[in-house]
Amino acid sequence: MDPTLDEFKSLVDLSLDRYLPKEPAWPERVHAAMRYSIFAGGKRIRPLLCLAAAHAAGGAAGRERALSFACAVELIHTFSLIHDDLPSMDDDDLRRGRPTCHKAFDEATAILAGDALQTLAFEIIATDPAGIENPALVLEALTVLARACGTAGLIGGQMDDLKYEGIPATPADLERIHRTKTGALIVATVVGGGLLAGGTPDRVTALRAFAEPIGLAFQIVDDILDVSGDAAALGKTPGKDAKSGKATWVALHGLEASKQRAADLHAQALEALHSFGSEASLLRDLASRIIHRVS
Ligand code: IPE
Ligand code: IPE
Ligand code: MG
Ligand code: MG
Ligand code: MG
Repeated sequence: MDPTLDEFKSLVDLSLDRYLPKEPAWPERVHAAMRYSIFAGGKRIRPLLCLAAAHAAGGAAGRERALSFACAVELIHTFSLIHDDLPSMDDDDLRRGRPTCHKAFDEATAILAGDALQTLAFEIIATDPAGIENPALVLEALTVLARACGTAGLIGGQMDDLKYEGIPATPADLERIHRTKTGALIVATVVGGGLLAGGTPDRVTALRAFAEPIGLAFQIVDDILDVSGDAAALGKTPGKDAKSGKATWVALHGLEASKQRAADLHAQALEALHSFGSEASLLRDLASRIIHRVS
């Protein structure tokens, strides 16, 4: 019988607990802050995408081989949220339904906890290859992930997100920001999952063609939820984007056009999976969850 997304989520949470240093170990305060932010909740969309892509490309064995990578992506994502919330960036007080890391601890601890989550991500991929016999595959996945986090991806996107606060962005600027700050990590999690599962080049190419529109749509929906969501469901403070003068899809294109673009990107993503059968059902379910989410 096919696994469920709930089973994937439990597996990811158990594995994250195993990978993260325990709180009593030195340096206690950084470990406490890392655990605080990781276990505050979170939808775990990126590790689920990774495992679903690995399942589509390589079945149960493929999934096992992608587990450390899936967890690593969640560590990196959580690092990006901790730093995104800092006073020098988006200056947010609420995240995953709790005070942000720098509020619960302090700024220096939040910076270090984010840094530590990022380095731990690469460590667990390098040291827990889970039965992958070909080290070249692990190196390729590490490279994909490092590039997605770096200046060509998440860091570059975050830099421009701040640069365009209060100044007009063109549609092309905005699309680049969204594809880099958020899309790049989503593409990396899907491609990495497919690669580590032993997917053929054709399958990995199709997975990338699925992930690119879904990654962009993810941030468009995030922008929509900032104007139409509520704090209880979101676990973060809505309405912040307009207040900060952020370049968002809704600010530039309006709410209706944003919803339409998300729907078009969803259709494009599903089309990219046309050569897959039921082995990609979980990926299709996740795409729908991403487009229709309220949190
Ligand atoms: C929020 O990501 C930040 C963005 C990239 C838009 P998620 O909506 O996946 O946040 P969690 O992980 O569920 O808290
Ligand atoms: C976050 O974008 C992107 C990254 C964390 C890399 P946002 O700033 O819109 O995310 P939220 O709304 O704070 O979750
Ligand atoms: Mg931000
Ligand atoms: Mg933010
Ligand atoms: Mg947002």
